[in-house]
Amino acid sequence: MIRNQWYGILNSKEVKSKKPIGVTRMGEKLVFWRSENGEVNCIFDKCCHRGASLSAGTVIHDKMTCPFHGFQYDSSGKVTLIPANGKNSVVPERYNVNSFRVEEKYGLIWLWYGENKDELPEIPFFKELREGFSYGEFSEMWPVHYTRAIENQLDVVHLPFVHASSIGRGNKTLVNGPVVKWEENLMTFYVNNVADYGEVKPLKPNEIENYKDLFSLQFQMPNIWQNIISKDIRIVAIFSPIDDEHTRIYLRFYQKFMNLPILKQLVNGMSTFTNKYILHQDRKIVLTQVPIKSELNMNENLIQGDIPIIEYRKRRSLLKTESDSQ
Ligand code: FES
Ligand SMILES: [Fe+2]
Repeated sequence: MIRNQWYGILNSKEVKSKKPIGVTRMGEKLVFWRSENGEVNCIFDKCCHRGASLSAGTVIHDKMTCPFHGFQYDSSGKVTLIPANGKNSVVPERYNVNSFRVEEKYGLIWLWYGENKDELPEIPFFKELREGFSYGEFSEMWPVHYTRAIENQLDVVHLPFVHASSIGRGNKTLVNGPVVKWEENLMTFYVNNVADYGEVKPLKPNEIENYKDLFSLQFQMPNIWQNIISKDIRIVAIFSPIDDEHTRIYLRFYQKFMNLPILKQLVNGMSTFTNKYILHQDRKIVLTQVPIKSELNMNENLIQGDIPIIEYRKRRSLLKTESDSQ
């Protein structure tokens, strides 16, 4: 896991008011709940008293209350009340659990994984999708490390093989480039796959002219991806790390060409069927990959067409080294 990053980890709607939710993210069992003003809180889901799951408890006056003996926790994970000791007793410092800073934006809950600084960087969501679009969404769990799920969406070589019946029609097996450009931690990759008539070799990235006119996709570190279908249509994936062997993928269809209320829902809902079909073509294969986590240096023989994957691995390794040394 790369430290000092905001990770999109849950859909906003999963955190209901008054009802806590327990989920595993970043390899930890966590409980999320909303304060009365709607703000989302996140602390470890294990009571410091005798280990019960807090998420089975209730929210009382903004406090997460353990179902076993009623210890009450504030949003920083500190116990503010031990009922058996009486309201009149001060709770010693050592009664606490860890917490994470979380924010709710763009229909997602974001978790800050790293040092607790006063000033945190901006939440890294695609700028143009922050307003004006509506979306339909579904999510599913994949039993792989999130690096593998992400790399599948950076893989332009697999299209005619895995998706011959959908987005990979046309047998475009020859992969020119791809061209990769970074802007801070946002990678844009431009795709130029063509049919192979046995006459040419693939172009190197620097031999591709006018690459900006090509079809493009983006990956924002550490865990958000988008397919730029057009100015008005995007497919977005959020790869929420559960633990080293599991990832929850939130897949969204964003559009702004249809704004009429009912039709909008219909369009957004229908897109889910297509996207699920395509994602399941991927899942069948990705689940067979060994090992289930990728690294910069591992025993794989990558090719030129894998440049976006190589770039992702390099950037991941760089950010990891940077944040581990801080
Ligand atoms: S285990 Fe939570 S209050 Fe006792
Ligand atoms: Fe795919």
